Amino acid sequence: MKPPASILFASAALALAALMIVAPRAVAAGAPDPAADAKAFRDYFVKKFPQVKLEDFVNGPYSMNQDMRKQWEDIEQFPPYQFALDAGKEMFGKPFRNGKSYADCFPNGGIGIRQDYPYFDEKQGKVVTLELALNRCREANGEAPYSYVKDEMASLTAYMAFTSRGKPMDIKIPNDPRALEAYQDGKQYFYTRRGQLNFSCASCHVQSPGERLRAEILAPALGILNAMPIYRSEWSGMGTTSRRFVTCNSQTRAVPLEPQSDEYRNLEYYLSYLSNGLPISGPGARP
Ligand code: HEC
Repeated sequence: MKPPASILFASAALALAALMIVAPRAVAAGAPDPAADAKAFRDYFVKKFPQVKLEDFVNGPYSMNQDMRKQWEDIEQFPPYQFALDAGKEMFGKPFRNGKSYADCFPNGGIGIRQDYPYFDEKQGKVVTLELALNRCREANGEAPYSYVKDEMASLTAYMAFTSRGKPMDIKIPNDPRALEAYQDGKQYFYTRRGQLNFSCASCHVQSPGERLRAEILAPALGILNAMPIYRSEWSGMGTTSRRFVTCNSQTRAVPLEPQSDEYRNLEYYLSYLSNGLPISGPGARP
């Protein structure tokens, strides 16, 4: 008989807790210094996984060992995200009822720009993600917004990511105290323990990448958003960054936030900034 999932999870959690080693909280005290954070973060992962090429961290669990890498190469032959990618391309090119299209809402017609998202919008004083910008584009053109977690949104972002494949993540923190605040807020969210299991994002993705949690191999936090959106067998479909954040919060039995809430947007800003220089690899496929 199989033990219930909750027991399996609790024992996995205990095993993980025992594995915890001292990981950098990037920069602990003093004035916020994103550039120093990013360097410390990258150095930590490079040192922990000397055999992994820097640009390979973006392949999540598949970057963690040779066997996994082989699996990834096999999957890329017949990628399960292909359907979403084709659908996204078609949707992206189709005009709205008013004759305008997505291309009118984005720099460079929306092609090859994924690496610039999320960005800090100084007019609004907030972080704007690609998903948010897509829905705002729809609403500005009289169309209803899409769900932030899957389906059409995942298809559109799959296509946009694909046109940026290989381009280095390029998140900017403008000289605006609110941008630095958003970054710090995202950082704090990432390192704060929550939920019944009292885990932070870092507990799993900084302290334990490469370790097994039930059937899954934990992805490293460096480059962790570069492959978004992803196809997951467990979802039997595609999911956006929002979907993954919600799933991870639920996994530790914390109450997930609303997709595209300020906290999630700031978290995405922080994590993306730390992955600057690593290539966009989305859309991705995961076990
Ligand atoms: C209890 C451990 C745990 C915690 C805590 C956790 N996650 Fe995860 N996370 C997972 C597992 C398991 C997966 C699926 C396997 C993988 O790709 O790491 C995953 C996957 C991800 C992925 C997709 C990675 C990829 O390449 O497919 C992202 C992004 C992510 N988590 C972000 C977060 C964020 C942000 C937080 C904090 C809100 C968080 N996680 C907290 C366990 C955790």
